[in-house]
Amino acid sequence: MRHSKIKNIGVFTSGGDAPGMNACIRSVVRTGLSLGLNVYAIRHGYDGIINGEMEQIQSFHVSNILQKGGTILKSARSEMFMTREGRTKGHLELKKKKIDGLVAIGGDGTFTGANIFYNEYGIPIVGVPATIDNDLYGCDYTIGFDTAVNTALGAIDKIRDTANSHDRVFFIEVMGRHSGYIAIHCGIGGGAELVMVPEDITSIQGVIDTLNKGRDKKKTSAIVIVAEGDEQGNAHEIANRVSEQLPKLDIRVSTLGHLQRGGSPTSHDRILGSRLGMAAVEGLVNGGKNVMVGIIESRVVYTDFESAISGVKPINDELIRLVKVMNT
Ligand code: F6P
Repeated sequence: MRHSKIKNIGVFTSGGDAPGMNACIRSVVRTGLSLGLNVYAIRHGYDGIINGEMEQIQSFHVSNILQKGGTILKSARSEMFMTREGRTKGHLELKKKKIDGLVAIGGDGTFTGANIFYNEYGIPIVGVPATIDNDLYGCDYTIGFDTAVNTALGAIDKIRDTANSHDRVFFIEVMGRHSGYIAIHCGIGGGAELVMVPEDITSIQGVIDTLNKGRDKKKTSAIVIVAEGDEQGNAHEIANRVSEQLPKLDIRVSTLGHLQRGGSPTSHDRILGSRLGMAAVEGLVNGGKNVMVGIIESRVVYTDFESAISGVKPINDELIRLVKVMNT
């Protein structure tokens, strides 16, 4: 049952691309069409709103994209939208197309922009959490996280072969600007001796103690996963400091980088993207505005943007403990 007068919706992706965004776009388009809405594809995120890069699309436009990484709508981190002038121009462009509802697929930066825009112009916006970092409050998982972890694990398994063959210590840096979700999941799934995440402080002495303990137990190689946002610095900096104190260790560093953002989404991300896309459009037509849709314990939940942006989703302590216990 539709409660709103929304007729024309726009969908865009913004911020870092994440595998599963295309599944979500497809779901938004087809859900919108199934409800009798006109759906506009907006390219290049907020920059596309400002520049009027919007076209009405049909079901066939989103055929054969479900399995693809990246985003067919392209993405951007828009500086122009951070200005009042940019947002005013964006509002005018939306009015020209009579777009009266938006689905914003992205992360906290995307929702910060959406929140400001809604407060200024009142256009209903429903956000969909998509970032490999999984650092958003109001959902168990963000689109792209599962694929990124599995991609990183494939690389870590390969590095382990070299670590083992040469009796080396590898410091492997994974993405996660402010959060250790990718790192902790990779650490557990990849059997790391140690995981360094911003949510759990590990001193350099702690790293040294862990490596020494491993050698005492006759381990000849070790893997340390470092989250990009760790408080001790990046993997190179940490490895250099450890190497100064343990010069006999054969230490190498590998930064996995953007390969974690690409590739075909896992079944988890395809299904999550599809579910959230449908829930976003249903939320819009049922009067949702200024909210992010998420799935918590398998149920669809809507959280206002301000809480989604400022809320903290801590890493489960049990996972941090699990890494330590597995290194006994
Ligand atoms: O937010 C996703 C993310 O991949 C972070 O993990 C990383 O710090 C950042 O984006 C990298 O951003 P960019 O695409 O600008 O290199």
